[in-house]
This record gives sequence, structure tokens and C-alpha cells, in this order.
Amino acid sequence: MCGIVGYIGERNCIPILINGLKRLEYRGYDSAGIGIVDDDSCLIVKNKGKVSLLEDKLESLDLKSSIGLGHTRWATHGIPNEINAHPHSNEDNSIFLIHNGIIENYQVLKKGLMGFGYKFLSETDSEVLVHLIDSFTKRGHNLTKSVQLALHEVEGTYGLAVISSKEPDKIIAARKGSPLVVGIGENENFLASDVSAIIAHTKQIIYLEDGEIAVIKKDEFTAKTIYDNAIEKEVHEISMTLEEIDRGGYAHFMLKEIMEQPESLRNSIRGRIIQSEGDVVLGGLTDVVEKLANSKRIIITACGTSWHAGLVGEYMLEQFCRIPTEVEYASEFRYRNPIIEKDDAIFFISQSGETADTLAALREAKMKGALVLGICNAVGSSIARETNAGVYTHAGPEIGVASTKAFTSQLTVFALIALLIARRKSLSRVDGKQIADELLLIPDKVEKILLLNDEIEKIAEEFKDATNFLYLGRGYNFPVALEGALKLKEISYIHAEGYPAAEMKHGPIALIDENMPVVFIAPKDSTYEKILSNIQEVKARGGRTIAIASEDDNDIDQLVDYSIKIPNTIRMLMPILTVIPLQLLAYHIAVKKGLDVDQPRNLAKSVTVE
Ligand code: G6P
Repeated sequence: MCGIVGYIGERNCIPILINGLKRLEYRGYDSAGIGIVDDDSCLIVKNKGKVSLLEDKLESLDLKSSIGLGHTRWATHGIPNEINAHPHSNEDNSIFLIHNGIIENYQVLKKGLMGFGYKFLSETDSEVLVHLIDSFTKRGHNLTKSVQLALHEVEGTYGLAVISSKEPDKIIAARKGSPLVVGIGENENFLASDVSAIIAHTKQIIYLEDGEIAVIKKDEFTAKTIYDNAIEKEVHEISMTLEEIDRGGYAHFMLKEIMEQPESLRNSIRGRIIQSEGDVVLGGLTDVVEKLANSKRIIITACGTSWHAGLVGEYMLEQFCRIPTEVEYASEFRYRNPIIEKDDAIFFISQSGETADTLAALREAKMKGALVLGICNAVGSSIARETNAGVYTHAGPEIGVASTKAFTSQLTVFALIALLIARRKSLSRVDGKQIADELLLIPDKVEKILLLNDEIEKIAEEFKDATNFLYLGRGYNFPVALEGALKLKEISYIHAEGYPAAEMKHGPIALIDENMPVVFIAPKDSTYEKILSNIQEVKARGGRTIAIASEDDNDIDQLVDYSIKIPNTIRMLMPILTVIPLQLLAYHIAVKKGLDVDQPRNLAKSVTVE
């Protein structure tokens, strides 16, 4: 994530950058900074914390410049602090840059640059870029060429903006994987990671594409590839309102976040899989991986949707790592004086990293001497800081109260952890590779499922007036049934329950009649035939049925009222796919009922009370 804004023109850039950064804070806000050219030299002001703190600092400095860059950070490499905040500059402070994305080969590049005497101040991957560019300017290349040459050596993703005090008439911007737009004004031009940061100044927008580099002057814009081929770019006139833009043009943050999942999942996986080895690298667990693999028991502790992710994690860890695993509600764990042995490892899962019950459970476990590990989305959050080690989900900020993309990223991280441990135990390279290969295919499969949005909306129309819903699944898809029911409850206020499908006959079957829609999560796996019997049982009692089924399953249509067909994958990864239609179903039902999807009644995004 991270937000980028840039300005070159005739006005003082400081208020433009600050206002732009405030609009970008939804992309991250653990630290912020600006860089300007002042009297032929570069000046950087940055700090830990929100943009408002940076604003206060700048007010007291009373700076002015007609060229500058601003950045608000969502930490990936290196904790949120002033040194790791952007911009980063070269040694003589003549070049500075801001970067969004992840430089995957930064360690190799860093080693090479250190060999040439470059000194690094921060823990970021981004700092490598500024020294790499500097190394090319030192060989006599101008700034544009130096950025191009540097990017030839870079693996990973970037939305990048660079300024040199030796060429103070231009901003160089480059994009690969992280969005960047250029705004065209009168004797002034703008740059941003999304249009919301600059829309107050111009509606004339150029979208940079991957592999493109832009040279932005106050009255000129040119684009080329990083291999120096010129490109003609089209200027688009933006008609959206600011509010619409924040939501990326979607009606709600929840829908935006559902639709973002191919990208958020790619971010969760990026740089973590060694495909040829069928293995995984999780930097945050390196120091504890041995202990983790040798643990006698794993406990997973969380609340809400994160707890559902933990249930799927339990299935994965037990199947592949053969370590007994228990999943606990954080609130229950904490209050029942849990038995913790010295060889136990305890995972605390939290999107926000601030949930009071999870944090309290973590402190309790830590006090009892357990190895405490975090799976968090918010970087630098309390749970992330207080655990011994952990893994970030990298799903990006989640704003809709009902968790969607954070959940699928949590499942992805559990799959990575299971693979990491299993490879250190008995899993072969070949079997590990099969999981790794399948995991890498998941974002594309999610993309395919999202194309069913209109179809799912029609099903939602059919069921929007129901007052009860039942969700049934088996094995890995039982926690998905719970999550599907929770999604519907949270935003549509329809009473919904999730059950293991086989449990239906022990109670819920008494509820089945024509007013009780039942959602079956029924992909073709080893429990498929059993699920078919459960569907028959519901049909026999007049219940209306919806099935999430495999795309090659033509038989199920004869049995159910509606089927939503999705691609297949290995069992352990199936929940990442099966939950997507359930998120969309809940979303559309709530919208059709005219409810406030992003801020449902009585709920909060981050529950910091016990
Ligand atoms: C709240 C939210 C849920 C979330 C739960 C746990 O109840 O409304 O969407 O699943 O907290 O939050 P966490 O940030 O710890 O994952």
C-alpha cells in the first residue's frame, strides 16, 4: 500500500502535498514524509505517525518550494519509524525518492551497493533504489536514464517518484504493479498513487501502465518504457466525485475490498514462495521456525472472522504438519486460566492487531511463558509488536466493517505457515511444490469467481426477504459456512447460522421449510457425496437451496434451486475460493435491503473494549 503524491509548478507545493497525503491516509498511516528542492538542495521532513503530525512539523518550519513529493507509509520492510519513513535520499542529499511496493531482490542489490561503499540508514527495501539510481548518475547518466537503468536491475513492484536537485525541473515516475497517475494542470502537473489525492486540482488524468516511466515537468509530460521506447499516453477526463474516488468507483468499501482480493492475495504471497523447492520463506518466523516445527501443540486464538480463519488454519496444520492444534476464542482462552506447556506455540490472529480480547489473551499467554506468534494485517499494531514473531498478511487497509480481503489473506498466510512447517517435517519437495503451485494460481481463480458478481446479485434479489438462513459445509468448508453466515448477519441483520453439514440432522433440520434458505458449500471433494445426501434431505422438506459447487459439476443443478460454479483447487485452499461468493451474496442482500453496508449498526471495525 502506501500513498504517493507529487507536485511541480508555480505554487508552493507544501499544502498541496499535505492535503493530498490526507486523502491517501486510508492507504496507510504509520509514518509520513515530504521532500522538496529548496535553494538547489534537497530537503526532507518526515516522522512516525499520521500526516497531521507531519503537518504540524511543517507549519513550524515555514518551507516553500514549487517541486516536491509526499508519502504516507504502510510498512512492509522495517518498522514504522522516522528513519524508515519516505523519502529516502542518497548520501550527498541530491536525489530523493518515494516508493510504494516491494523490491524483492533488495538484499542482493543492497549487498552489491555496500560493496561499492554505499551506506544504508534504514531497514527498507526502498532505500536500495535511491543508491542504485545514484550509482548510475555517478557514471555520468542523467536522472531519467539512471532511473531506467536502475529499474532494469530491480525485481518486484514499484510505484516510484524521484527528484534530483541537480535537475530541479522534473519529477521522474515509474510504475510496475503499484498504481500511479499523472494529473495535468495549467503550468503545473501532479503525480499520485490514486486520483483522490489530486482531483481537487485537476480532472485531466493520465494512467501510467506497468513498465512505463514518466518525465513530468511543470509544462510538459513525456512517457517512455524503462527500455527508452517513447509512448503516447491518452489524457482521461475524470467525472467521479471525491467520495466515489475514495471507494475506487465502487458503491461501498466492502465491494471494493471484495473485488481487490486477487491483488491482496498476490500481495500476501509475493516473495514468499520458493516454487522449485516447494518451500516458503517467511522472514518474520525465521528465528522461531525450528521451535515451531518441534512444538507439541499449536493453539490459535482470535475473534470474529479471524477466529474462522483460525479454524481453517487448524485443519491445515493438523493435515500437513501433524501437530495437534486447537482454536480458541480469545475471550474464552483468557478467562479460563489456560493450560500452557513449554512446547506450545500460540498464534494470535487479528486484522487490526488491536482487538482487546485478542491482545489480553496474548498478554496472558506471554506471561505464562508460551511462544507467542502474530498473524496481523495492520503493521506496527499492538499485537504485531507484542508477539515474539509473526507474519503480516499484507492485505492492505480494510475499511468495510465486515472483513473480506483480510480473511482470505489470513487463510493464505496459514497455508504458507503450514507449508513452511510441513517441509521441515515430513512433506516432500514434490508434495510441497504441488501446494506452492496451487497457491500461486489462487489469485487468478478468485478473479474468475468475481466475474460471477451479476449472477450472485440476481440470487440475492430472490432471497433478500428471507428472515433466516442456514449455511452448511464439511471439512475445510465448515469454517466457511460459519464465515458465510457471519457475513450475512453482520450487514443484512438476517439471522443466519453456520453448521457442519452432518450436524444438520441433530437439530437444525427441525427448522427446514420453504422459508429457510440453505446455502451448501459443496465443491467436488472427498465429502461431496455426503453433502449431496444433505441437500436431498433439505429438498425433501421443502427448503430452498443454493450450492457453491465445482465448475465441472453438472449434476448438482438437478438438485438445487441455484448453483454458483467456481474453479477447483486442492482441499486446503478451497476455502479461499468458496468464501468469495458468500461475501458477494451477503453484500448484495444487504444493499438490496437498503442497509449501511460499510458501517452496519452496533458493530465496529476494531473492537478495543473487552
Ligand atoms: C470486530 C469486527 C470483525 C472482526 C473482529 C476481529 O468484531 O467487526 O469483522 O473479525 O472484530 O477483529 P480483528 O481485527 O482482531 O481481526
